[in-house]
Amino acid sequence: MHWLLGQFLIRPPYPADSYAGKTIIITGSNTGLGKEAARHYARLGASHIILAVRDLDKGHDAKHDIEYTTKCGQNVIQVWRLDMASYASVCAFADRVQSELDRVDIVLANAGLAPAKHSVAEGNELLFTVNCISTILLTALLVPRLKTSAARFSIRPVICMTGSVAHTFTQFQEKSAPEGEMFAQLNKRAAREDSMTAREDLYSISKMLPIFALRAVAERCPADKFPVTINIADPGLCWSGLSRDFSGGIGTYAFMSVMARSTEVGSRTLVHGGAQGPNSHGCYISGCQIEEPSPVITGPGGKELQERVWKEIVAKLEAIKPGVTGNFSTD
Ligand SMILES: NC(=O)c1ccc[n+]([C@@H]2O[C@H](COP(=O)([O-])OP(=O)(O)OC[C@H]3O[C@@H](n4cnc5c(N)ncnc54)[C@H](OP(=O)(O)O)[C@@H]3O)[C@@H](O)[C@H]2O)c1
Repeated sequence: MHWLLGQFLIRPPYPADSYAGKTIIITGSNTGLGKEAARHYARLGASHIILAVRDLDKGHDAKHDIEYTTKCGQNVIQVWRLDMASYASVCAFADRVQSELDRVDIVLANAGLAPAKHSVAEGNELLFTVNCISTILLTALLVPRLKTSAARFSIRPVICMTGSVAHTFTQFQEKSAPEGEMFAQLNKRAAREDSMTAREDLYSISKMLPIFALRAVAERCPADKFPVTINIADPGLCWSGLSRDFSGGIGTYAFMSVMARSTEVGSRTLVHGGAQGPNSHGCYISGCQIEEPSPVITGPGGKELQERVWKEIVAKLEAIKPGVTGNFSTD
């Protein structure tokens, strides 16, 4: 109810701050919320914008569209390849950032999907690979460049992941899985159940797991000892291509017509998240305000669950790139 009222009553403020001199990376920016966030940054004078996309042609179409509508010039936006369904692609992208960008101010880790059908990428249900594991992997891999940006340019860079209120719609039934078997059980359910309800629940969980990870990182690397702010922003319910696989019928269409924001309005919340300071580190932001996430996370047993989720995510990240989770340190 609180969220519904916020969705209806709160209109995120139109971004107006200058981004001159700033370098901004946005994943999943060829369309939807990511593209509209990129358009705001281009309009507001960002010096360098990286559209991180899995399809370069779509990325170049977005670049030309943003250049045309903002008149930002042809030297501001670059299109780089990033396929979050491939860990090799995530690692290659991060290596490129490390070698080609001296300075990174803001990363919007926005790429995500909600497929109606089960598929596997890198040994996990695609939803978990893209929305959770690759998102945290990319965050970990980019931290060193953000730390050096902080020291060299006296700035406090921000990584803002795109979250979702959908994480509050699930009870996360796999939370009581035996030690180390949460992802295994999630993968099993994803392979077994393909109803719309099950797929929506799995999507919700894929948006809940990064919140556990964010909170675990912020506890280990508090804002006063870590020069990078990491937060999660929920854009609210928006008309986008996200649920393109789901045919909701006339009821869903009517609900969306009344409730949903345009991607331009929703993207303002991501720009807001990327502009926040250390007080937002480790926080979930919704309606441009820091909010408590789901009681599954904050309620009884939530802390213990967070540590179990974090342990499994660490194991996955270390299997992909040994030592990578060491980037989440206060050294
Ligand atoms: N729309 C909403 O109501 C809503 C609400 C809360 C949170 N969100 C979150 O907002 C984010 C953006 O979604 P959207 O609503 O803007 O949907 P969208 O229009 O479908 O955009 C999703 C973006 O993610 C990209 N993407 C998907 N899989 C990828 C992969 N393997 N590698 C790299 N990029 C990939 C897509 O690229 P392609 O075009 O190539 O597929 C697209 O650019 C997602 O994280 C979503 O979970 C959306």
